[in-house]
Amino acid sequence: MYNNNPTIEDIRDELKTGHNTPLSEDRQGEVLSLENPSEAATKKFYIESYGCAMNFSDTEIVASVMASSGYASTRIMEESDLILINTCSIREKAEKNVRQRLSVFNKVKKHKPGLVIGVLGCMAERLKSKFLDEEKIVDIVVGPDAYRDLPGLVAGAEEGNKGVNVLLSREETYADISPLRLGSNGITAFISIMRGCDNMCSFCVVPFTRGRERSRSAFTIVAEAQDLFDKGYKEVMLLGQNVDSYKWQHPENEENVSFAELLALVADVHPDLRVRFSTSHPKDMTDDVLHTVAKYENICNYIHLPVQSGSSRVLQLMNRTYDKEWYKERVESIYRIIPDCAISSDIITGFCTETEEEHQETIEMVTWAKYTMSYMFYYSERPGTLAARKYEDDIPLEVKKRRLAEIVDVQQEESLKSNQRDLGKTFKVLIEGNSKKSELQFKGRNDQNKVIVFPKLDGFEPGDYCHVHVDEITSATLKGNIVK
Ligand code: 5AD
Ligand code: SF4
Repeated sequence: MYNNNPTIEDIRDELKTGHNTPLSEDRQGEVLSLENPSEAATKKFYIESYGCAMNFSDTEIVASVMASSGYASTRIMEESDLILINTCSIREKAEKNVRQRLSVFNKVKKHKPGLVIGVLGCMAERLKSKFLDEEKIVDIVVGPDAYRDLPGLVAGAEEGNKGVNVLLSREETYADISPLRLGSNGITAFISIMRGCDNMCSFCVVPFTRGRERSRSAFTIVAEAQDLFDKGYKEVMLLGQNVDSYKWQHPENEENVSFAELLALVADVHPDLRVRFSTSHPKDMTDDVLHTVAKYENICNYIHLPVQSGSSRVLQLMNRTYDKEWYKERVESIYRIIPDCAISSDIITGFCTETEEEHQETIEMVTWAKYTMSYMFYYSERPGTLAARKYEDDIPLEVKKRRLAEIVDVQQEESLKSNQRDLGKTFKVLIEGNSKKSELQFKGRNDQNKVIVFPKLDGFEPGDYCHVHVDEITSATLKGNIVK
């Protein structure tokens, strides 16, 4: 994953993890724990999370399940009784990174033989019991739909019995589990609204690792948003592999709740609760959703609409079920209905048989669509996917990487241009905390999901909204000052 500010190093060495719903690079491999773990707990677990926002959201469910069975979270691996790693399979590099982490855990286990090590998430699902054969230090392997079974599997492992549960479910949404907000800033939180994916994009392993698509009850989603707001949170991000196909049936009147309706329900929780969502699929994103975004001031004007490729032929091979013209029409609708909307994208370079001309079409799309940012990758063949079975991975690695570097350059120019258009404007910003570089500065985001850095001012705290006038920019950041 590369954001707006990639280095050559980034391109040379593809990032360690994958993304589905973009999550900032600096959170990859984050060790998650509570500030004040429960005193009553006798045992401790340590957890690392990789991959997409959905995985981070799942980690909070896992933490809740483990806390209910008497485990407290810790950030110190060496003092834990249980190490969990929530893994990603989206690209080969993501999996390699997990194996490296396992070798680190192995060193800790040598000094602590009773330590239980569990692999969770997409890689667990993909490799299943093979994991136990390949990595001797692993005690339990648990897929994304089997986290309720974790305490039992951990107890078994403590008795010396290795365990695997990788059953995928058609119903599981963990709707009744209240996530433990590990590593949270207390201001923004994820809410998972659905699980799995029914789109069979030919490059993607997710349908195999996360199973069939299912939507969570709208009641519990709205209740979770309300609860977060009551606890002082100011922003929720509704997560799903394809939020536009959210569909839930009311048990009493059997009415269907669409994504547009769900968005409105969550936005109605409170005008001071910002609502974001990801990921939108170009084939399913409706004008209803766009009108809802336009109608509510607190639904952010930002849509992550992955194009993957600018060539209709490649899109067909990718089984994306839309072509270039359809995608362009969707982008035009966004700008027509929400004129100041920011759009971001995911792009894959060097997919099977991609020609130089088709690569140019993707470059043209970045400029045409005016993406404010993109997550850009070169194609990594994943075992078992449609593409792996049907097409030869025939683009040489150097070509894939060169094309990626070209896309990154064009995106960076676009991001800069987009930020230049913001010079002199004033934005409503939700203050998230200190900026990375200085304790004297705050960092926040505007409606368009752009990061803004500005000097602190008396009377303003993280979690407050303020208005910031932009007077300096880079391709990655806006800089400014609070105006009263
Ligand atoms: N190789 C490279 N990138 C991939 N993605 C998904 N599968 C692959 C793959 N096999 C990218 C897509 C997707 C994002 C989450 O990751 O761009 O939208
Ligand atoms: Fe998330 Fe799994 Fe996809 Fe990785 S493979 S991005 S963890 S859903």
